[in-house]
Amino acid sequence: MSTNKNLISKRKKEQLNLCLTDEVSFKNKSNGFDNYDFIHCAVTEVDLNEIDFSTEFLKKNISLPFLISCMTGGTEEAENINSRLASVASELNIPIGVGSQRRLLDGDEYNKSYKIIRENAKSVPVLSNIGAAQIVQLKDYGIVQRLVDLLEADAMVIHLNPLQEMLQLEGEPYFKGLLSSIYNLKQKLNVPIFIKEVGAGISLDSAKKLLEIGVDGIDVAGAGGTSWAGVEILRNNKKRNNQFWDWGLPTSYCIRNIKSLKESYHFTLIGSGGINNAFDNAKAFALGADLTASARIILQTLTNAGSTAVINLITNRFETLKKIMFLTGSNNLNELRDNKIIKKENLY
Ligand SMILES: Cc1cc2nc3c(=O)[nH]c(=O)nc-3n(C[C@H](O)[C@H](O)[C@H](O)COP(=O)(O)O)c2cc1C
Repeated sequence: MSTNKNLISKRKKEQLNLCLTDEVSFKNKSNGFDNYDFIHCAVTEVDLNEIDFSTEFLKKNISLPFLISCMTGGTEEAENINSRLASVASELNIPIGVGSQRRLLDGDEYNKSYKIIRENAKSVPVLSNIGAAQIVQLKDYGIVQRLVDLLEADAMVIHLNPLQEMLQLEGEPYFKGLLSSIYNLKQKLNVPIFIKEVGAGISLDSAKKLLEIGVDGIDVAGAGGTSWAGVEILRNNKKRNNQFWDWGLPTSYCIRNIKSLKESYHFTLIGSGGINNAFDNAKAFALGADLTASARIILQTLTNAGSTAVINLITNRFETLKKIMFLTGSNNLNELRDNKIIKKENLY
């Protein structure tokens, strides 16, 4: 194994292990959902039994608008995790993303750790994943199409992680030409392109720039959940009070602002970043998300309690969502998105 491959594997293992702890949470910043409350509807006529969450995503029917976020690949542990997560996705008929396929740019040694996702989840939307830092360096975009083909993926996700690359000792914080690279890639790929952050959020202005060049979806991956600054700071054994630990835009802020762009652009908006309970999940929809997604809590639940516990976690979130829709008089998610939530400061 080359030194580069060794380093990437070692890094992935360290990151994975840190993400199994709560040490990598934000310290003094929340996802922002706490600032909101639902508007109770005393005259609700919603029938709980008639609420149906099935919808279309990436030209496939899915049963719940929920994505298992991009996490792992490229190590032995990753194969086991991806295998089980893919079975969960298949059982619930929901989409799933793979972790960065960067490892495959150096050779196909750990192909199986990614391919297992499509093998175990044959009919759901699967999302490929690569970092923006890799995209800006590429001369041949054909290789990205090969990453998509390997998984028979339904979309390619490019993750933006300037904060993480900046803090990582071996990071590559070089993003010159980013927007034109994404634009050029978009012309070459035969699947839609989604853009995500990894926990620092996407601003209105950044989203507008991405939509201008034609991206098909935005996953805000906002602040308040997993701090990737925290992950890298801990990996570096640096002081824990690093001032960048809590950097980023809260998830609720990103969803609320980027939703406003729906008037001008056609795109899918995914709400993620610290969505760790059923109420936050519901508030993400109420603020405008088309789908919600989670990463670390899924990994932790899988590791600590197994696949059935992950299935229960996701199912329970959507059962609670039904109750919230009943109490807000929302027959469907579009009605929930229509003024059913209020900033707490306006309640008093
Ligand atoms: C163990 C782990 C590995 C991750 N690896 C990737 C990755 O390879 N590519 C990516 O786009 N995001 C990756 N993420 C980021 C998540 O997809 C997500 O955006 C972020 O963790 C915020 O969501 P959360 O607060 O629910 O964890 C990873 C997250 C975790 C927990």
